[in-house]
Amino acid sequence: MTSGKSISSAPPPMVSDRILACLKAPGGSDDQGLELVDNGFLCPDTGETFPLIGGVPSLYSPPEGEGEEITARVKSFYEEHPFPNYEGLEEFGELVSKGSENTFSANLLKAIGYNKTVLECGCGTGQLSHFLQLNNNHVLGIDMSLGSLKLAAEHKLRNGLARSGFAQMNIFDMAVKDASFDVVISHGVLHHTFDARRAFAAITRKVKPGGIIMVGLYNRYARIPTWLRAKIIGVTGGNIDYVVRNHIKDARKAEIWIKDQYYNPHETWHSIGEVQTWFNENDIEYLNCSPAILGTDGEDAEDLFRSTGPGNAYQRAVTQLSWLGTIAREGALFDVIGQKRR
Ligand SMILES: C[S@@+](CC[C@H](N)C(=O)[O-])C[C@H]1O[C@@H](n2cnc3c(N)ncnc32)[C@H](O)[C@@H]1O
Repeated sequence: MTSGKSISSAPPPMVSDRILACLKAPGGSDDQGLELVDNGFLCPDTGETFPLIGGVPSLYSPPEGEGEEITARVKSFYEEHPFPNYEGLEEFGELVSKGSENTFSANLLKAIGYNKTVLECGCGTGQLSHFLQLNNNHVLGIDMSLGSLKLAAEHKLRNGLARSGFAQMNIFDMAVKDASFDVVISHGVLHHTFDARRAFAAITRKVKPGGIIMVGLYNRYARIPTWLRAKIIGVTGGNIDYVVRNHIKDARKAEIWIKDQYYNPHETWHSIGEVQTWFNENDIEYLNCSPAILGTDGEDAEDLFRSTGPGNAYQRAVTQLSWLGTIAREGALFDVIGQKRR
């Protein structure tokens, strides 16, 4: 692994050249690329500039009409409660150490490999984006919450990280050229949009043919215990939550986790079979699921991006019921991985 720390003392560019080549003007066509200017981006084709807001490049197109109200409520929630936040991970070395110990992020970095371009849709405060720029990967984290992105950009500057960059964008109208990234990830995000299926279609357009897409969503079965706990957490307090009891030491971090899990203005629940249908609709070949689908070769797949069997309806149902005893206590997120057909 390379550290990503810049040798010169000059601040790193907002985005690296490889990421800049993937950007376009918001709402523009793919040939309306962007240039970096002192205080943001310039589209040479139209002469329009896109300034930094609070130190964060803003290429945000707010939705109009359908989805407007839900998007506004979710945006304002994450402006107030940036997630997951940095307590204890202010130094890049601490972040790398935590990311390497975490099975999910360590396996993801290993599967991505080296020299790739990665787009993280809904990066929140950007920890995963920063971690994945190891191994000479170039990462763009986008989110609609400026409050979250501000923390991501501060971490980048404080640690001189040149290959992770951030911009405010809306998943439904990203200022990113189609088929431009090797890997597109969206973990714990699309279920907070007004239409997760349409959001999925929007993010898959940004993957190159042969590239990887990974989507992490709340599971339809495993999320039920959280929904039940939400009914009584006002009385019991946060200690009813397994993650708060066992994994979070910092009081502010615990508060943010509780807000995100139990007081979110909008969430939807999804099944493995449903996501496999989305894959078919968008020309994506199924590769793997995490946690694995029971009874398939996914159970032995060490590589997250290995091609494994999709299971049958019975295997998928049993798997998701089994998650009531596992991932249900840690937020009930499952990830499905696929490859864009060439
Ligand atoms: C639960 S947080 C997940 C953050 C991060 N991916 C993680 O796993 O820690 C959900 C994030 O999705 C972002 N989000 C939701 N809808 C969005 C949209 N339409 N466009 C961009 N970001 C969105 C929110 O602002 C928020 O930061």
